[in-house]
Amino acid sequence: MPGTVVLGAQWGDEGKGKITDLLADRMDLVVRFSGGNNAGHTIVCGNDEFKLHLIPSGILYPHITTVIGNGVVVNPKVLLEEMDSLHKRGIPTKKLKISCNAHLVMPYHMALDRLGEVSLGKAKLGTTHRGIGPAYADKAERLGLRVQDLLDEKILRTKLESALERKNAILAKAFGQETFDADEIVDEYMGYAERLAPHIDDTSLLLERAFEEGKRVLFEGAQGTLLDLDHGTYPFVTSSSPTIGGVFTGAGVGPRHIEKIIGVAKAYVTRVGYGPFPTEQENDAGEMMGERGAEIGTTTGRKRRCGWLDVVLLRYAARVNGLTCIALTKLDVLSAFERLRICVGYSYQGKVYHDFPPHQTIFHKCVPEYLEIPGWGEEISGAKKKEELPDQALKYIGFVEQAAGVPVDVVSVGPGRTQTVWMREGIEPPKLEEGPYLNLEEFEPPNAG
Ligand code: IMP
Repeated sequence: MPGTVVLGAQWGDEGKGKITDLLADRMDLVVRFSGGNNAGHTIVCGNDEFKLHLIPSGILYPHITTVIGNGVVVNPKVLLEEMDSLHKRGIPTKKLKISCNAHLVMPYHMALDRLGEVSLGKAKLGTTHRGIGPAYADKAERLGLRVQDLLDEKILRTKLESALERKNAILAKAFGQETFDADEIVDEYMGYAERLAPHIDDTSLLLERAFEEGKRVLFEGAQGTLLDLDHGTYPFVTSSSPTIGGVFTGAGVGPRHIEKIIGVAKAYVTRVGYGPFPTEQENDAGEMMGERGAEIGTTTGRKRRCGWLDVVLLRYAARVNGLTCIALTKLDVLSAFERLRICVGYSYQGKVYHDFPPHQTIFHKCVPEYLEIPGWGEEISGAKKKEELPDQALKYIGFVEQAAGVPVDVVSVGPGRTQTVWMREGIEPPKLEEGPYLNLEEFEPPNAG
């Protein structure tokens, strides 16, 4: 079975881009299935750094077809800007496919996202202001516009006018804000339509055909398990399903195609935006993690909150996603610590919870129970083999495996492609050279206007 899934096991930003990129050279297709341009993937390839928000990481390989599935919300302006920036660096986007059923992020979604946050005051979520929540809300309310609507101006206009009736009323009456003009939006979006049309496709059918032909498909998660609308720390979550279920609804494929479900977790934990975070370290330890891990958001430039590894959450992520293995990233960041802490339970009103608690109050107010262990006291960013990792680092990894109940197959010790340790025999590591992976001979100039 040729389907592999890469999912975030924490609150996003776990390093999924690097893991996807490492696996991508043996794949034929790479698929995004949820979220929108609230996501940000950074890939380091030799001296080059690529920051992607909507386009799947596989775009850096000329042989790969990249797919934006129906579960993604697409801001066409951002997508075209991203395509243009790739073209400028010699990377073709001809093989990018966009689901006809993906929903569009509209200008009023971004306005409503910002205004919604302001109106929540102290209770705000800290969204990325990219219009993600309002776009998914319209999808659920059956008021959304889809990518396929770009192919028919009449339909686009009719649906837009009907949506604007309600949106403009809210903007004007509830928020006292300026309203949006249908003609202007139609003009703007029809401009995008011309350039995006060659990429629009029935991507569910495309994937089914790919599986029939024995092609290898990688599903690239965005955000993380604890940001999932159902399984995350609601309401401090995003509005989509970054967990395993999102793959099936968001790409239009069935579970029988999936062989491997890789949960990506940092060796510590970070979170952006507001919401509970039991192991957060608002102290020197947290500062050190942030500095060594360069914990600044790819999309928003916000400083990420940092804290110790929490295996209660990791076990939860393993359960709700049915993880088959873990990729543990940024282990090198912990090299500077003399002693390390791992949260193994939550203490609340005399009871210790070893599983994700059933009530949010417990998660908000609990005191973490830590296991404290010595660090390894040396830099490990040059390690390429398991044998090159210090014993204490191997113990840390072993503990994670035991506590999460899932093997750690891959450990990342730095941002570069070669700064990766493949932990188990029988796993064939990909060709691990530092770039260039881009085959410029196959570069075809963009057909963009
Ligand atoms: P939204 O997805 O913009 O609605 O934001 C909702 C919450 O999810 C906020 O706390 C964001 O900071 C968080 N979030 C959304 N996307 C990401 C991501 O890619 N990484 C980390 N946090 C994210």
